[in-house]
Amino acid sequence: MSESFEIRQITPADKIPMQVGLKMLSPESIRQRFFTNKKEFTEKELKFLTEVDQVNHLAYVAVHHHADGTLLPAGVIRAIVNSELKTHAEIGVTIVDCYQGKGLGSRLFNEIAERALSVGITHFYGDYHTSNLKMSRLLEKFSRTRKPISLKHTGDGFIYFEAPLKN
Ligand SMILES: CC(C)(COP(=O)(O)OP(=O)(O)OC[C@H]1O[C@@H](n2cnc3c(N)ncnc32)[C@H](O)[C@@H]1OP(=O)(O)O)[C@@H](O)C(=O)NCCC(=O)NCCS
Repeated sequence: MSESFEIRQITPADKIPMQVGLKMLSPESIRQRFFTNKKEFTEKELKFLTEVDQVNHLAYVAVHHHADGTLLPAGVIRAIVNSELKTHAEIGVTIVDCYQGKGLGSRLFNEIAERALSVGITHFYGDYHTSNLKMSRLLEKFSRTRKPISLKHTGDGFIYFEAPLKN
C-alpha cells in the first residue's frame, strides 16, 4: 500500500496516538495551540479529548498510513459547543510539524465543518496569536468559499475570530 492520510472521527482508542502526537510537536506548535508549554496529557484530559459525542464535542484526526503499514498521528481538530450559544463552537486544530503545509489542516477544517452544520452549529470561533501566520492563512483559505470571517484584535497579542460555516 502506498502512503496516504486518513481523516476520521476520533475514538477512545486514540488516547495513545494523542500522547504520541503531542511528543512529536515542536515547542512552537505546542505554544501556538495551547498557549503554554504542555508536555503530556493526564488520563482525565485524554478521556475528555477522545471520548466525545460528536454533537456537543466534535473531534477528527488525521492519520498517516506509511507504505510499510505503520500508522502515525498527523493531526487533530476539535470543536466544542458554547454552553450558552449552541450555534457556536470553539475550534482548535493541530497538525504535527512534519505534516504541516500539506493541506491536512484545511481537510480537517472542511470535514469538521460538514459535521458541525449537520448538528446545528453555524459558526466556529477561537483565538490565535498575531504571530501565527499559518493559522491566519488556514482561516483565510477556509473562508474563501464561505461568508467572510470576522477578526478582532483583543489587545493582548491575540486575534479573536468568528467563521460562518455556511456558504
Ligand atoms: C495552523 C495549522 C493548523 C495549519 O495546518 P496545515 O495543515 O499546515 O495547513 P494547510 O496545509 O491546510 O495550509 C493552509 C494554508 O496555510 C498556509 N500554510 C500552511 N503551512 C504553511 C507553512 N509552513 N508556511 C507558510 N504557509 C503555510 C498556506 O497558505 C495554506 O494555503 P494554500 O494551501 O492555499 O497555500 C498548523 O500550522 C499547526 O498545527 N500549527 C500549530 C498549532 C496551531 O497554531 N493551531 C492553531 C491555533 S488553534
